Amino acid sequence: MRTKTLIRWSDNMSVFVEELDAEHKLIIAEIGELYSSRKGQPHNTLQKRLSFLVNHFISHFAHEESYMEKDQYPNLGAHKEIHHVFVNDMTALLQSLNNAERFEISDESLNMIARWLDNHILTEDKDYALYAARRALSPAEDRGARPA
Ligand SMILES: [Fe+2]
Ligand SMILES: [Fe+2]
Repeated sequence: MRTKTLIRWSDNMSVFVEELDAEHKLIIAEIGELYSSRKGQPHNTLQKRLSFLVNHFISHFAHEESYMEKDQYPNLGAHKEIHHVFVNDMTALLQSLNNAERFEISDESLNMIARWLDNHILTEDKDYALYAARRALSPAEDRGARPA
């Protein structure tokens, strides 16, 4: 029987920065792991793994934003806000599970996380990637740098 995969890495997700691609791949793998092995796992294990995932999102977002800052990405403010809202949603999910009688991560929650990430990489992260690629190709003078 084939296991359903919620989200899969594909080359068109690349943002042309090896480190950021590696972080996206790691998060995608963690979502897949959680999805396939969450049934019958002890409360503590699930809680730890979901916290790890949230922390990986947070550190990835900070890292990605530092790249955007360095490149003077004009949509940085809006992008940061999107990250911020998602982290708040994830934190609320973690909190509600911590307070629930049973720590169970529903298909719906994992689907929501997977769909969000898939869409975010392919649209907003990709927008930055294309901006950075164009910027790298444009002459330095166009970016306000003094010619050598
Ligand atoms: Fe992002
Ligand atoms: Fe990202």
